[in-house]
Amino acid sequence: MRSDANIAGPMTDPVPGPRTESSFGEDVSRETPPPMDDTPIGRAAQLAVEALGRAGEGLPRPEHTRVIVVANQKGGVGKTTTTVNLAASLALHGGRVLVVDLDPQGNASTALGIDHHAEVPSIYDVLVDSRPLAEVVQPVPDVEGLFCAPATIDLAGAEIELVSLVARESRLQRAIQAYEQPLDYILIDCPPSLGLLTVNALVAGAEVLIPIQCEYYALEGLGQLLRNVDLVRGHLNPELHVSTILLTMYDGRTRLASQVAEEVRTHFGEEVLRTSIPRSVRISEAPSYGQTVLTYDPGSSGALSYLEAARELALKGVGVSYDATHAHIGAQNNPNMVEGIQ
Ligand SMILES: Nc1ncnc2c1ncn2[C@@H]1O[C@H](COP(=O)(O)OP(=O)(O)OP(=O)(O)O)[C@@H](O)[C@H]1O
Ligand SMILES: [Mg+2]
Repeated sequence: MRSDANIAGPMTDPVPGPRTESSFGEDVSRETPPPMDDTPIGRAAQLAVEALGRAGEGLPRPEHTRVIVVANQKGGVGKTTTTVNLAASLALHGGRVLVVDLDPQGNASTALGIDHHAEVPSIYDVLVDSRPLAEVVQPVPDVEGLFCAPATIDLAGAEIELVSLVARESRLQRAIQAYEQPLDYILIDCPPSLGLLTVNALVAGAEVLIPIQCEYYALEGLGQLLRNVDLVRGHLNPELHVSTILLTMYDGRTRLASQVAEEVRTHFGEEVLRTSIPRSVRISEAPSYGQTVLTYDPGSSGALSYLEAARELALKGVGVSYDATHAHIGAQNNPNMVEGIQ
């Protein structure tokens, strides 16, 4: 665990992942972006240059490791997508980041290209057999500074097996506290339920990040999650708070999306990131190649929006105000960037 560093200068030495043909040729210099063509592709190219330039810019490091629990008991709202893409973005910004896959589906492990068949040492061994976290963590191919503690199918049984174990709610917390590698961020991808796995995440982290899908009924069921957060704060983890809300699958072309966004902002206020994540085909394609959208298509609106969300998250964490110029670059201000019509 990192605890020594103060706000130590910018995160250094970021190594962006490989670019794909759909973004730029390797010969495009970051210092001299190509002339902006007044076409959707020209604009996309320009934005991607900016995105990649920003990725190399570095961000302030948090004073202590920030442990962020990505939770929402509703299924399919973008928890896993947000976990892996934010984690990759933070790593591209120069941070050292660990993703803990706490969902028996193992989607985060898949999306990060991490082997997670039944025999692979996994987060199940950590929770149930007290195996040190360091023994299951694997580096993520393609993204320097990004690591993953994978989930295997065994984890499906852990909800029940944990019940009879000592300190059943705080086993992940203990494992993280004993982990000695320096990290800036740990992002925990929760399953779509509020059982013991999610409780372990809530006890281990200080921050909760709730992705909210910009659809009808977006806020329904959230009360239950918020009550659980209160309960865990009251009994097991006094530091726990909802620090961040991220609007996902935002479609700037529909009135419903902006209505939901407005409702969420009214309800939660400052916790809602100014950056929202557009609905993007590239984001949904990336996992089937074992990649995040940051390496799969770094010039896409999805990659850009996750980079911006990560920047906002990082700056918020050190109390620096965020310049929202690019906050809605993917969805609202650039309708041509919404995949499907570009
Ligand atoms: N911004 C986006 N644009 C398009 N598709 C998206 C976007 N975000 C997520 N998706 C897709 O929506 C589906 C659900 O996303 P994801 O798996 O991240 O949700 P989840 O909350 O983790 O689901 P679960 O509750 O099952 O764990 C996936 O197929 C994913 O590829
Ligand atoms: Mg998931």
